[in-house]
Amino acid sequence: MKIGIIGAGSIGATLTRKLSSAGHEVKVANSRGPETISPELLVVGATAVTASEVVTDIDALIISVPLSSIPALKPLVANLPTDATILDTSNYYPMRDGQVPALDQGQVESVWVTEQLGRPVAKAWNAILAGSFETKGQAAGDPGRLAIPVAADRETDKTVAMSLVEDTGFDAVDSGSLADSWRQQPGAPTYCTDLTRQEIPEALASAKKERIPQRRDLAMTMVMEKIEGGVALVNDDMVELNRSTYN
Ligand SMILES: NC(=O)c1ccc[n+]([C@@H]2O[C@H](COP(=O)([O-])OP(=O)(O)OC[C@H]3O[C@@H](n4cnc5c(N)ncnc54)[C@H](OP(=O)(O)O)[C@@H]3O)[C@@H](O)[C@H]2O)c1
Repeated sequence: MKIGIIGAGSIGATLTRKLSSAGHEVKVANSRGPETISPELLVVGATAVTASEVVTDIDALIISVPLSSIPALKPLVANLPTDATILDTSNYYPMRDGQVPALDQGQVESVWVTEQLGRPVAKAWNAILAGSFETKGQAAGDPGRLAIPVAADRETDKTVAMSLVEDTGFDAVDSGSLADSWRQQPGAPTYCTDLTRQEIPEALASAKKERIPQRRDLAMTMVMEKIEGGVALVNDDMVELNRSTYN
């Protein structure tokens, strides 16, 4: 598949490596230009391009930028054919993204993203920490393989997104529609807690919508407090913190 990736940060870089290693034809762009993208991301065959080049001649576009950068991408996305699948990895953190009134009032993040882009998306890879995503992928069928929830409204988008998630080394679990994707947002039991395919359905079902924003902000406050206090948090510390805060 021909894939464009916007964002070459923690998640976009790993997506670039994994999807090109899986045999896909990958182009990747950031905001500063292709010359600023690490050559290390390109060793398996991906190409660094400009943001306007990344949306040409592709079957799927993955957007992996801070949520606050999403509205600016609408003109780029307008160049994509309507049958191309757009996948979004974003999460809303008011401490990082600034306050977004609609999201503060409970609008579902991926629904807000579709409104900003004027296009449907599949929500994927948002609920895996960068460290887990980079290091914990396993071959299909491996016992203990971790899983990633995938939400989308169009069947074609869901099929493409689930297949690409599998290609990155994780089981894909159908988490339903975009309207229901609050169940995999920051603060929910499924969010960045390293669950398996067997564990995710119960975690999605047990999410309590009204508790999610407080739990998201509580975990972020605890992380900031530890970092400012000189504690070196590693990926699995974050997974444990999320498990204890979101359940
Ligand atoms: N980090 C995690 O553990 C994690 C896990 C799951 C999901 N997520 C979500 O995934 C998204 C990406 O996270 P991240 O940690 O990978 O972020 P990151 O490390 O900060 O990287 C963000 C990337 O987006 C690019 N970018 C920003 N605005 C852009 C624009 N207008 N046009 C083109 N490129 C643009 C940046 O390019 P420049 O550097 O050139 O500006 C950078 O390459 C976020 O929404 C985050 O919430 C993160």
